[in-house]
Amino acid sequence: MLIAVPDVLTADELTRVRAVVEAGDWADGNATSGAQSALAKRNAQLPEESDAAREAGALVLDALARSALFVAAALPLKVFPPLFNRYTGGQAFGTHVDNAVRIRRGSDFRIRSDLSATLFLSDPQDYDGGELVVEDLFGEQRVKLPAGHLVLYPASSLHRVEPVTRGARVAGFFWIQSMIRDDGDRRILFELDGAVQAVAADRGQGDSAVVRLTGVYHNLLRRWAEM
Ligand code: NI
Repeated sequence: MLIAVPDVLTADELTRVRAVVEAGDWADGNATSGAQSALAKRNAQLPEESDAAREAGALVLDALARSALFVAAALPLKVFPPLFNRYTGGQAFGTHVDNAVRIRRGSDFRIRSDLSATLFLSDPQDYDGGELVVEDLFGEQRVKLPAGHLVLYPASSLHRVEPVTRGARVAGFFWIQSMIRDDGDRRILFELDGAVQAVAADRGQGDSAVVRLTGVYHNLLRRWAEM
């Protein structure tokens, strides 16, 4: 399941993140790739340990923690500190699957990547191409969102970034280990959560059916969550 999360960053946060990222020292993107990805990947990236990546990543993590939609959709247990990449001049990232396990260099922080996330930082009118294409059961989904918006997709899916033929596509990207490992189980909880919110908006949070449905949500989460 692909889920778009609009307006993760406010306009001010977007300006700040962009300024920090653009002032950073960019390097060849293959620094973070596995051997197979390295064959497919052509872009620039902010080194993981750089001050710019850390500062911008911290801003993004703060914003994510405030996003009710992100939390409901991802049910995050651990979030990998965001990294940043840039595609220009025909650069692209061919079809690949993200590594199952991500380890933060020089630390014991490791996550299983259940979900991949792309946070768009460039306005779509500022570049051509650069769509994120995700293959799922229903075929190819092509994603190109406004700056400050994020897309979540299963880290297990084949995906690619189309060549950027004009301008620059700058984005944050990272992985999430979810409390709910299985994509289908996570989807059920997300749908139930949305339905309960809709009924609550109609009947009020104190309505007895809303209280019981909220209980069902939490009891499913209790049953399935891994910590
Ligand atoms: Ni990827």
